[in-house]
Amino acid sequence: MVSEEQKFLSRGERAVARCDRLGDKPFSDEAGLLFRPWLGPGFQSTVETVADWMREAGMDARQDSASNMIGRYEGLIPGAPALLFGSHLDSVRDGGRYDGILGVIAAIEVVSSFHERGERFPFALEIIGFGDEEGSRFPVTMLTTRAVAGVLEEDDPGTTFADLQDVDGVTVAQALNAAGLTARGMARAGREASELIGYVEAHIEQGPALEAEGRAIGVVSGIAAQRRYEVKLHGTAGHAGTMAMALRQDALAAAAEMVLAIEATARAYEGRDCLVATVGSLRVWPDVVNVVPGDVIFTIDVRAGSALIRDLVINSVLEQIRHIADRRGIGAEIIPRENLAGVPCDPRLLALLEAAVADVTGSPARVLVSGAGHDAMIMARLVPMAMLFIRCERGISHNPAEAVRAEDVDIAIGALTDFVRRLAAAENSDTVSKHSD
Ligand code: HGY
Ligand code: MN
Ligand code: MN
Repeated sequence: MVSEEQKFLSRGERAVARCDRLGDKPFSDEAGLLFRPWLGPGFQSTVETVADWMREAGMDARQDSASNMIGRYEGLIPGAPALLFGSHLDSVRDGGRYDGILGVIAAIEVVSSFHERGERFPFALEIIGFGDEEGSRFPVTMLTTRAVAGVLEEDDPGTTFADLQDVDGVTVAQALNAAGLTARGMARAGREASELIGYVEAHIEQGPALEAEGRAIGVVSGIAAQRRYEVKLHGTAGHAGTMAMALRQDALAAAAEMVLAIEATARAYEGRDCLVATVGSLRVWPDVVNVVPGDVIFTIDVRAGSALIRDLVINSVLEQIRHIADRRGIGAEIIPRENLAGVPCDPRLLALLEAAVADVTGSPARVLVSGAGHDAMIMARLVPMAMLFIRCERGISHNPAEAVRAEDVDIAIGALTDFVRRLAAAENSDTVSKHSD
């Protein structure tokens, strides 16, 4: 009897089918759309299923104290430092089925192919499924990646990580406890650089370049700089029928003016160093049809290839926010939530990945900057990192219309396989030259 998964002809087809399967209940917290926030019920079901697939691929699988799922495939010498593959298991609300998770599932296919051939290397292979890259539950992103890299309290979180709250007022510490974990344990999830030789992440491009050029895969040169803020506006709630317009301190009207100012400022910098700015979340209180809004909380996300342009725009936007608030008699609290510098990929790993891509595609690799943030930008603080991009349809992402081709995933799996062998050859020659000196 051919199992559900064995009927697929290729590893790419199986990887896509597995991502599709994880796109519904019980792997999503909401029926009819994909929303897999960190430490929700969908996340735990996903962790358990990914662990099964890791074991099936010949790996040991364990959940670390920050909730990340880690698979390990030993090298020729047990306990050797590991090349780490990874990406994230969580999703944005109403997200696509491939953002993050495909990088984990594709890596499992790479290890599975080595396992089937009994092929081992001078280093171990590990795969890590990170719990919280998106920050779709708590106001700071990549919390579990930061735990692994040992940088939990850096980059303007605005408070200690354990006290960060979700929209229901649940803290990180409480969410961890509900999952049988602790904040203290999470803070101890850090890895030593000495036990890792590098981090490689395969991810959908989430942009149009590869499709526009008819390419299946590409290599990332670096990841854009990003800053995030939470803005809390305090006006005066009032009766919609009796409060005169001239007397209103309407927090939502103020927020609306601020959102348009943010958009206008970003448009003024359009095309300069890939600058983009987004207000993605806006919550109104009391959010009732016949009450003049008293309070609003909204978010700001500004990115650019360099911190210079990013900070120029941020400073202008924050000044305009303060000016609009003063003019309208609204209190404005501006909380920094993220300050991530742009991160270049490691030149040595990038060159090996370019050679692998050229090998499997038969043409020189396309190298491109990532406007999207990734776990790799945090892991770069611990070990050398590189990223492989996979074409996605019309560049759409963070949207249920997100789509990939199985044949592109097969090519990506081939490139990662070739990359591992190239790295092993490079490591061996480094070892030989060290001994012959
Ligand atoms: O926001 C990002 O760039 C990523 O999807 N978390
Ligand atoms: Mn994403
Ligand atoms: Mn992602």
